[in-house]
Amino acid sequence: MKLPAFFEEDRLAVEAALERLLPAETTAPPSIHQAMRYSVFAGGKRVRPVLCLEAARIFTADVTPALHPACALEFIHTYSLIHDDLPALDNDDLRRGKPTCHKKFGEAAAILAGDALLTLAFQAIGETPVAPERRVAILQEVSAAAGTVNGMVGGQVADLEAEGRKVGPEMLEYIHRSKTAALIRAAILAGAHCAGAAPDDVARLRRFGDAIGWAFQVTDDILDVEESSAALGKTAGKDVAQQKATYPAVFGLERSHQIARELTEKAMSELAAYGQRAARLREIAEFLALRRA
Ligand code: IPE
Ligand code: IPE
Ligand code: MG
Ligand code: MG
Ligand code: MG
Repeated sequence: MKLPAFFEEDRLAVEAALERLLPAETTAPPSIHQAMRYSVFAGGKRVRPVLCLEAARIFTADVTPALHPACALEFIHTYSLIHDDLPALDNDDLRRGKPTCHKKFGEAAAILAGDALLTLAFQAIGETPVAPERRVAILQEVSAAAGTVNGMVGGQVADLEAEGRKVGPEMLEYIHRSKTAALIRAAILAGAHCAGAAPDDVARLRRFGDAIGWAFQVTDDILDVEESSAALGKTAGKDVAQQKATYPAVFGLERSHQIARELTEKAMSELAAYGQRAARLREIAEFLALRRA
């Protein structure tokens, strides 16, 4: 799957900003900073930061300030993966093609690295070089999305509690929209707030982000069945082994593909109002729908 050229440009800007915002490995206490950097730079796709930058670009030519919330979202996402992989949660050994944080540094370091990345995210948002009311809007959006009420932690709780149980479409929807769509939506809205988007635009992009984020987790479930660990950089076939509540488990693979397509189309329809201004967001949505990792 070929990435759009602008994606690579954005990604390079994000890598440089992550590098600036993360304390050096030598900063005391070095072990925590090594663990944080190990997981952040293990090779993620950077989907959330790129979405943040490209949402900002609908409203402004200079998206540099949006690098702060973009990195914040990648810090929170990486923390969620470190904790998701812990033995008490999904118990995974492989992440982003490397041993998981707790395999490499031990459980205590992995728990603390996650805590530290979450905290660093809010420091980065606090330092976003835009008007204070925009910073507050970003803060509200991101903190709610990472939290327990229809947010990432709430979704993770429901995901764990659904293991081995028979789950219906409504609970499945709740899990996916909370554990994954919420942060993806927040990445997009953080970019929009950063660039001073009007309430109507925020509402439209909220619908876009919810649909594309939901589709993202449906596809993640599909890839867990259809792809290899080598292709994914994480253990394939885990959801069946752990009796997770997934779209393929509840709806079957074919219908899951269809649901992912329908959600992507719904997302695309929200962008119609922007014409060419949203060309890049449309390309990202297309890439996410066709991705194989
Ligand atoms: C994986 O997210 C976890 C989910 C929320 C589905 P990504 O597929 O974005 O993982 P990285 O960042 O590329 O490793
Ligand atoms: C992860 O869902 C969602 C998070 C909030 C981390 P998964 O458990 O399916 O993610 P992977 O497949 O391990 O990346
Ligand atoms: Mg999980
Ligand atoms: Mg997992
Ligand atoms: Mg998964």
